[in-house]
Amino acid sequence: MGENIIPLVDWRQDLPLPDPLAGAAGPLADRLGRPLHDLRISVTDRCNFRCSYCMPKEVFDHQYKFLPHSSLLSFEEITRLARVFVGLGVRKLRLTGGEPLLRKNVEGLVEQLAALRAPDGSALDLTLTTNGSLLERKAVALQRAGLRRVTVSLDALDDAVFRRMNDVDFPVADVLRGVDAALAAGLAPIKINMVVKRGTNDHEIVPLARHLRERYGAAVVLRCIEFMDVGATNGWRMDEVLPSAEVVERLSAVFPLEPLEPNAVGETAQRWRYRDGGGEFGVISSVTRAFCRDCNRARLSTEGRLFMCLFASRGHDLRALLRGEADDARIGATIAAIWNQRDDRYSELRGAAGPGGPAGARRVEMHYIGG
Ligand code: GTP
Ligand code: 5AD
Ligand code: SF4
Ligand code: SF4
Repeated sequence: MGENIIPLVDWRQDLPLPDPLAGAAGPLADRLGRPLHDLRISVTDRCNFRCSYCMPKEVFDHQYKFLPHSSLLSFEEITRLARVFVGLGVRKLRLTGGEPLLRKNVEGLVEQLAALRAPDGSALDLTLTTNGSLLERKAVALQRAGLRRVTVSLDALDDAVFRRMNDVDFPVADVLRGVDAALAAGLAPIKINMVVKRGTNDHEIVPLARHLRERYGAAVVLRCIEFMDVGATNGWRMDEVLPSAEVVERLSAVFPLEPLEPNAVGETAQRWRYRDGGGEFGVISSVTRAFCRDCNRARLSTEGRLFMCLFASRGHDLRALLRGEADDARIGATIAAIWNQRDDRYSELRGAAGPGGPAGARRVEMHYIGG
């Protein structure tokens, strides 16, 4: 228990905002030459699940102070910022949480974001990561609002294992009905993200892959994610990480696989294809094969802090700018200056430093910054 009592405050303090970068316009490049392409927007820090790798029950209990409603960015504020980011080169928007479908009328936000256009007039890649618990109810409204696709987190096919993983006794059948509803609404292809913990759900990889292949074929893509050392509360241990190489080995023993070329620069997943034409499969290996070199993702927290890395300890308070005097040009030039200074590459450094990672880090929690 002792280890779990960790003050979760540091990462809510801010980094200073740099002076705006004169004449800034996309495409930008950070100090490692990386462009800005994705903006991941957390719309709530709350979740109805308590996955031990993200929001362990002992820490996120009834005493935990979630953000008050007044500190959340409004939909108008989020959309204003997203528009500025698009002007700086962002082409992909992902809504995350916590659980984004818990945010009241999230489809209203989707509608506003779906109306944004890149400078050449094209629509953005607009998507959302959900635990699926409310998807059956929300899929049609989200699609009508302009959502393009969804990613559903699902850690097991077996009901007992799934209930243990989400730690709130939530049944797997409800999530599977959510996936059906999303497909019926046209939110395809759907990605299913499975965080694999050795000894907890690794025996579920093959059954889940089999089920998804048989039921949905190429319309659903399973991706196995290495259990990461995000945050400071999830009790991460290297011996609970199942390296992706082993995932691929186990799966290809049952369903032969062949590698696919990356779809895009900076992609998180390495992609594979079932040789029998049964669709695609992916692995996300941030522990054993860091992908920082091409990382083009910025993260906006629920209360408007901008984080340059999933493992950052501090963010930049954009809400203060939004609620102050700054116009869009000034906000854009400030974000450009932040991106310009960026040199984060935590996973690479952790790989080099060995288990435990670079010293001294008090990292932001994933439910706050988004997956
Ligand atoms: P699409 O493939 O376009 O749907 O998006 P994506 O690959 O970014 O996928 P998604 O947003 O579903 O991210 C999948 C998982 O990869 C996340 O839940 C994290 O576990 C991990 N991940 C995503 N982005 C990063 C990142 O920048 N750094 C690290 N270390 N892990 C990440
Ligand atoms: N390791 C890997 N992925 C994680 N996520 C949350 N915590 C972790 C972790 N410790 C990701 C999962 C989940 C999404 C919401 O966030 O992909 O599906
Ligand atoms: Fe909730 Fe997703 Fe975190 Fe699980 S991983 S606790 S579903 S935000
Ligand atoms: Fe990007 Fe940080 Fe993840 Fe590396 S660890 S890929 S820099 S978010």
